[in-house]
Amino acid sequence: MANRMLRLSSSDLKHRLWRMAISATPIPVLARARESSFWQKHWRETISDAEFPGYAQATDLKKWFAQQVASLAPGSVLEFGCNVGANLREIGVLCPATQLYGIELNERAIAWSKANGVAPTARFVCGSMGDAEALMQGIGVDQVDVVFTSAAAMHCDDAIFASAKAAALKVARRAIVHMEFNAWSPADLQNARNWRSSFLSDRWIRDYPGEYSGHHRVERIETIGVPLAINYVDSIGRLLVSDVNGLVVVHLKPG
Ligand SMILES: C[S@@+](CC[C@H](N)C(=O)[O-])C[C@H]1O[C@@H](n2cnc3c(N)ncnc32)[C@H](O)[C@@H]1O
Repeated sequence: MANRMLRLSSSDLKHRLWRMAISATPIPVLARARESSFWQKHWRETISDAEFPGYAQATDLKKWFAQQVASLAPGSVLEFGCNVGANLREIGVLCPATQLYGIELNERAIAWSKANGVAPTARFVCGSMGDAEALMQGIGVDQVDVVFTSAAAMHCDDAIFASAKAAALKVARRAIVHMEFNAWSPADLQNARNWRSSFLSDRWIRDYPGEYSGHHRVERIETIGVPLAINYVDSIGRLLVSDVNGLVVVHLKPG
């Protein structure tokens, strides 16, 4: 049955028509979500350079997030899915001595960052967060104090996230921080998973505290709601959604 369901191309016009249709009709329940491989290709290849200046902006949300990471007083940080490195830049402003590393799937985002001097002291590696351990070993780095993601793990399916989490648990010395699309309740998890499987979205909601709870390296897990006043809201037809809605800080015991 799933194969007979609707599919769309990624063109802008179709995307806009689709969004109009899902606001006005019951069509969301008929459509099938794209596979993860489609979305990973989208992030690796399709996103346009015109999006990079937006990612480079020093928003209140980025500054708030940087404060949360900086409060851990890290000597080094690694962002999975850093795009042009604006989070790294904001952390560097607060902690100038911190070594900054970013792994990003899209090599044009890294090139744009370097051309525009977004985070000149950061070291970027092109590749998938699922391969983070090998990618960091490739540049001679075994561990950093803090590994973090911001609106990036949400674009990875469960298999990629499982590899990224395993890598984070090896590479992070003191903490793993996720500012992501977090499930605060079983209902959130069910609703947003059903929503993803029913129409166009590459947002995977996840129980981030549950992902880490019980692991032998985990000392304690903090959860913090992202303040509403500084968060974004996106229209997905009849619903509004915020991409990131939770900050999860996983404090680690020495490995
Ligand atoms: C919505 S952007 C967020 C960028 C940045 N973290 C921020 O907070 O502004 C998602 C980023 O994650 C990257 N991404 C998606 N899947 C990835 C993967 N498997 N490994 C590394 N980066 C990935 C995308 O290329 C994109 O740059």
